Amino acid sequence: MGRIDHSLYLAAVGDALDRYVPVTSLMQSELFRAMRYSLLAGGKRIRPVLVLEFCGLCGGDQEAALPFACAVEMIHTYSLIHDDLPCMDNDAMRRGKPSNHVVFGEAQALLAGDSLLTMAFETMLSSESIGGVGAQRAAEAAGVLAAAAGAYGMAGGQAIDLMSEGKKIPMETLQKMDECKTGALIRAAAKMGCILAGAESRLVRAADEYAAAVGFAFQIVDDILDVQGDEKSLGKPIGSDREKDKSTYVSLLGMERAGNAVRGLTDTACKALHAFPGDTAYLRGLAEELAVRDR
Ligand code: IPE
Ligand code: IPE
Ligand code: MG
Ligand code: MG
Ligand code: MG
Repeated sequence: MGRIDHSLYLAAVGDALDRYVPVTSLMQSELFRAMRYSLLAGGKRIRPVLVLEFCGLCGGDQEAALPFACAVEMIHTYSLIHDDLPCMDNDAMRRGKPSNHVVFGEAQALLAGDSLLTMAFETMLSSESIGGVGAQRAAEAAGVLAAAAGAYGMAGGQAIDLMSEGKKIPMETLQKMDECKTGALIRAAAKMGCILAGAESRLVRAADEYAAAVGFAFQIVDDILDVQGDEKSLGKPIGSDREKDKSTYVSLLGMERAGNAVRGLTDTACKALHAFPGDTAYLRGLAEELAVRDR
């Protein structure tokens, strides 16, 4: 696989996910159905695309990076299934369809999330995946993802989100929350791509800088779209943050300052790409598109 364009990335990730979580006649076939329901529902696939693109940019083997890209998407999808549960955001729509728990029930949705989280590590640490990139790089990439998904990262951010409901929090808390709940996985994806390619640490740091800015902007745009997005194109409910009295960039700073922050962060992201000797047009375009996305 050479460096490939966006639709090919989406197809490669979609096909691989379909293989990793198959239709099955096992006794727990309903669990697999629940996992597939959300995983194959057509998210934007930003995180796996970052793994693959940074890997290619650093001269790595994108085919060998594919299981790692899929692992990030599995963890992201698990986070969305759990995020929608009644005990969390209680949202009934996701990726243009009724949320996982609405279709399969809360218990099965909980298990589908658990299973996707675990399957991410199973996928990265299969002998085939390890054989593709080498044990050292596989272990390092899996370690980066583990740290980003857990209590110091995404899950930690979700905890801060829940404890920030119904109150006015300081800006610092909001930034920490966004860095953790959304930034951590996006940063992990970019770093994993570089690590899988064996890039020098200077480039891993530059990828991290790019992704930190993109990730932060990404959550601010998510907050903006919750206010002024269109439910149909977004594929999830709008007004959900306000309904739950969530602390967001928009609720704290207002729409205008939120928009300015997105533009500033997008510039920061693009500047970080100067460290790379290769062609970074795709990543620049991605950051810019994400800043003005409507889904
Ligand atoms: C939604 O993520 C949750 C956030 C972290 C803001 P995405 O906007 O990437 O959702 P999908 O994968 O496209 O559905
Ligand atoms: C991101 O926050 C949540 C995750 C890390 C899963 P949100 O709760 O704002 O995400 P959406 O808007 O429901 O997609
Ligand atoms: Mg949430
Ligand atoms: Mg939510
Ligand atoms: Mg949101």
